[in-house]
Amino acid sequence: MTSKPLIVANWKMNPSEVEIATDLLQGVINELSDEEAKHVVICPPFVYLLSLHLVNDRIYIGAQDCFWEEAGAFTGEVSPSMLKNVGCSYVILGHSERKNYLQETTDIINKKVSAVIKAGLTPIICIGETEKGTAKSDGKIKEQMQAILAGIDGADIKLVVLVYEPEWAISTNENAEPAAPEDCKKAISAMREILSDMFDETAAKEITILYGGSADSTNIKDFLTHGQADGALVGGASLDAEEFVRLVKKAASV
Ligand code: PGA
Repeated sequence: MTSKPLIVANWKMNPSEVEIATDLLQGVINELSDEEAKHVVICPPFVYLLSLHLVNDRIYIGAQDCFWEEAGAFTGEVSPSMLKNVGCSYVILGHSERKNYLQETTDIINKKVSAVIKAGLTPIICIGETEKGTAKSDGKIKEQMQAILAGIDGADIKLVVLVYEPEWAISTNENAEPAAPEDCKKAISAMREILSDMFDETAAKEITILYGGSADSTNIKDFLTHGQADGALVGGASLDAEEFVRLVKKAASV
């Protein structure tokens, strides 16, 4: 289902009102051709999903998290099939903000990945190092991938989308700056090697791997070309319709 390049908007806990969310979505949809729209996934907060689903039939909608069980006594949680029912095709999992603020562990993320695949949705899984310059040396990327992708079937792994998301590059973190495209390329190629060891060559080659961290309309082309990313997970720059549309158009023209 995934068309490369894939541009995923992670609105995080924004905007503050459903009317603003609807305007933001419309502002994006109205400016994209059908071809460009195929490359876009918008991930709003849970509470806006249904309203956005009802006014949108042109771009993919995703959630920013979910629980791993289908139904039952799990107060405050939302299941993958509930998300599917309100029009979601994708679910972001393991974002570093959830690891930091909610102590989400790799075991928890692993259970969520399986549940999301089982429900027929595509997981967008965030992987990345905390400290700048340690992508290869500290073994964190390998550790995270081995734990989060443990037990995933060889046939299912190709359905997964991964994100190289260096935490220090996220725009809202102190002293954030985008990764250098060259470093993005090295990290993505290391991730493909790990996939090859865990699964097989075809999976390693075919899996969509995005870049996330201060991506915007001025640097997206570099990440897709020199950085060898298959797309981007976009936070801050997805909250301004004009800027996000510019980014999508640049990505689609690569
Ligand atoms: P940002 O967020 O684009 O605002 O840096 C990206 C992310 O959270 O992955």
